Amino acid sequence: MKKYTSVDDIQNLNELLKLAKKIKKNPFANKELGRDKTIGLLFFNPSLRTRLSTQKAARNLGMECMVMNLNTEGWTLEFENGTIMDGSASEHIKEAARVISQYCDIIAIRSFPTLKDKKKDEEEMVISSFLTYASVPVISLEGATEHPLQALADALTIEEYKKTERPKVVLSWAPHPKALPQSVPNSFAKMMKKMEVDFIITHPLGYELNPEITKGIKIVYNQEEAFRNADFIYAKNWSNYNDYGQITSEDPTWTIGKRQMDLTNNAKFMHCLPVRRNMIVTDEILDSETSIVIPEANNRIYSAQTILTKILEELT
Ligand code: CP
Repeated sequence: MKKYTSVDDIQNLNELLKLAKKIKKNPFANKELGRDKTIGLLFFNPSLRTRLSTQKAARNLGMECMVMNLNTEGWTLEFENGTIMDGSASEHIKEAARVISQYCDIIAIRSFPTLKDKKKDEEEMVISSFLTYASVPVISLEGATEHPLQALADALTIEEYKKTERPKVVLSWAPHPKALPQSVPNSFAKMMKKMEVDFIITHPLGYELNPEITKGIKIVYNQEEAFRNADFIYAKNWSNYNDYGQITSEDPTWTIGKRQMDLTNNAKFMHCLPVRRNMIVTDEILDSETSIVIPEANNRIYSAQTILTKILEELT
């Protein structure tokens, strides 16, 4: 594997999930693979799980980690070509990416969307620039449009908890006080297309995701109808894709609670975290056996370790 910035970079999901399960059983088996190799984790936005689980994964493989909050600790970067840099940006991505490539064998980046400029967000300016100018493999720690490491952890979690060969998986929008990216639902939808599942997305009218991503996926605007006989409920808020970055519904009836979960086939509740209690999901569900958000977050280690393994195998 040369890079992992999108679920589209996965060529053989079954092989990847098999490797993830093997790694999870014996996470320290391959400590030599990353010896004398360094990963640079560059954050333009906050993180708990991604930051810690990727460090843990790298260390399990014997790698060194360098972590930098580039937005607060680094020079402000310029991404446009040909600009006269007389503004706030002190360093061009062309130099920054090449310099970091001399210090790191893999560069991993978190850079959220603006949620203001759809075109710019869809161009994935930050991650694309690193892909262009860095001379080492690049991993997305969540970009403007995708969160592929999260999606791989989610796929592993569904594999572990499914009780039927072809479970019914429902991605449900839920309310949130802040405008959030579409990255997690985009990557989750792409991942579900690759899995043996019956997949449905449910959201209020107008909250359609990028139609290129949801092409072929059933969308149901009635949440209760969507939840019937579901085996997994994956909750997530996202801001409006069409009325880009706006919050156009705060409907509290979409908060997931016992009323909806009782319609399911004893479904497991999933969320990428962090989750707003009693906005996205009620305490009652999150604190119950139904919720698998904690083991789901644990799988972030093995998702990252699987991708690092695949990349390191091609480096050495
Ligand atoms: N799920 C996830 O990416 O969590 P963090 O934002 O805390 O990294």
